[in-house]
Amino acid sequence: MCGIVAYVGQQSCASLLVEGLRKLEYRGYDSAGLAILDKASGETVLGVVRAVGKLAKLDEALREKPLSGTVGIGHTRWATHGRPSEANAHPHLVGDVAVVHNGILENHLELRAELTAMGRKFSSETDTEIAAHLIDLELSRGASSLLAAVRGALGRVRGAYAIAVVCRKEPDVVVVAKSFSPLVVGVGEGETFAASDVPALLAHTRDVIFLEDGDLCELRATGVKIERMIALGDGSPTSAATRVVPVERKPRRIDWSPAQAEKQGYKHFMLKEIHEQPTAIENTLRGRVLLEEGDVNGAEIGLTEAQARAIKRVVLVACGTSHHATIAGRNWIESIARVPASVELASELRYRDAILGEGDLVIAVSQSGETADTLAAVREARRRGALVLAIANVVGSAIPRASDAALYTHAGPEIGVASTKCFTTQLAALLMAAIWLGRRRETLEPARALELLKRLVEVPTAMRETLEQADAVAKVARRQIVSTDARDCLFLGRGLSYPIALEGALKLKEISYVHAEGYAAGEMKHGPIALIDAQMPIVVVAPDDSHYEKIASNVQEVRARDGRVIAVVRKGDSLIGSIAQDVLVVPFVHQELTPFVTVLPLQLLSYYAADFKGTDVDQPRNLAKTVTVE
Ligand code: F6R
Repeated sequence: MCGIVAYVGQQSCASLLVEGLRKLEYRGYDSAGLAILDKASGETVLGVVRAVGKLAKLDEALREKPLSGTVGIGHTRWATHGRPSEANAHPHLVGDVAVVHNGILENHLELRAELTAMGRKFSSETDTEIAAHLIDLELSRGASSLLAAVRGALGRVRGAYAIAVVCRKEPDVVVVAKSFSPLVVGVGEGETFAASDVPALLAHTRDVIFLEDGDLCELRATGVKIERMIALGDGSPTSAATRVVPVERKPRRIDWSPAQAEKQGYKHFMLKEIHEQPTAIENTLRGRVLLEEGDVNGAEIGLTEAQARAIKRVVLVACGTSHHATIAGRNWIESIARVPASVELASELRYRDAILGEGDLVIAVSQSGETADTLAAVREARRRGALVLAIANVVGSAIPRASDAALYTHAGPEIGVASTKCFTTQLAALLMAAIWLGRRRETLEPARALELLKRLVEVPTAMRETLEQADAVAKVARRQIVSTDARDCLFLGRGLSYPIALEGALKLKEISYVHAEGYAAGEMKHGPIALIDAQMPIVVVAPDDSHYEKIASNVQEVRARDGRVIAVVRKGDSLIGSIAQDVLVVPFVHQELTPFVTVLPLQLLSYYAADFKGTDVDQPRNLAKTVTVE
């Protein structure tokens, strides 16, 4: 998730672009850069300045090498392909063309090989540079305009993009295009803007056009011309996004305050991030799930086939919410790849003199990639001879750097301290790793792999449907937790719903300060049942899976003791649904995939409980987003 900005007008635009990027810094700040066309000397000069780190570094670089000109593009990077470095920073310059991009081009490896075979040289590890080469190639083959060249190039790429392009040969134009990644155009008086998000535009205009997938636009100071690519390219050499129709899109007047706009109208980052989950999952699956082959793209996992076959045991290590994701991961690895697997809290593993070594695959899961205990556990595991695969969200962070291989979640930056979208994208990464291992070890039938992957790519749709019930969840939060001033809450689940019960309890404690316990439902009789009375809400995670009947009995036991049950059940459930006081409904998904949907109402329940109580949702007391001390 990067931020892009663009400007065409009369003003010298360097500082305007940097100010726009400042409003988008929440989207990533690994590096930043500008490309500006300057016509002052008669001959147009395309100047590029890039710097690693936050925008302050770009400010410094621009003081050393100022850029002037009234047409330009800018970028603040959240690394997905290639570590944060100046060479990987945008804009990418090829010939007369400079490109900034937010998104992931799925077929970048194939295209890179094809362009390399044509003699083209690359100076970065990014997928974006491929787009710059393709546009340059179209121009060298006689494309009639920059717009036509971008259109032709986009016919060759598959994936997600919001891009902005300038070319020295067309100094009055910026071309932008969108597919899956966000992009808005700002309409001013004698000037036109584009940006990944509205806050970057608000200082200049409140009239914005929200572009749609397939939109390709030519921005000039006098206005914007939009065409819609009907057939997006499929990436093949003969494909081209040439079937286009002109479209009219009316600007909308935005009346959000700048702070609201940064959260896209949501009250808190946490709520925005909860709602971003379907898209975050799509981004994490993009380019990894190979439906035609019923497999997962091994190039993205980074382990060799021989390494996969040699593994004798998997040990999953993490802290907090990431630890909960590893419990689901353990279940998948055992049931799908049939390798013995265990979960470990990083803070325990690192000091336990654990038996680890050759034949062990340690999977270290971390949103930040910097958690001190997880990092220490990774180093210890490698010192003892284990192979380590990191699953992390921050590219180039310490844990993936210290590991043998890394599989990145593409959730984008998570700002709310309570982890939400990173949890579900970790689930997606763990499931993909289990499927990849299962196929390599021949424990997973191709037909079952295909079925799982097909159902996995449908998950974002089910998540969207679940999130539509946010208002209903808010009412339950008020009625069952806030109005009753609940002090304690119990969360129960079995199988894949057990880590979801743990995660639901953690979310509630950390942001609403209600004491909560997550328990394996089968353990209830071994202690927690003594706590149950009419005051305590008990959240039962009971989707339609092989544990359903057993958990239904647990619900009966709770009701027999006057416990107040809030049940997460499948739409249409009539058994548990009829005995629980309140139900939070999720759509039907494959029984291996229930955690992706059952966690959503629990995140919302905690969010609304906290919001109604008036706590600081995004920065709860005593907590830090990244825990770099043990
Ligand atoms: C809870 C939460 C924490 C983190 C934990 C590990 O909402 O965010 O429990 O999951 O601090 O952090 P990472 O995943 O960055 O290693």
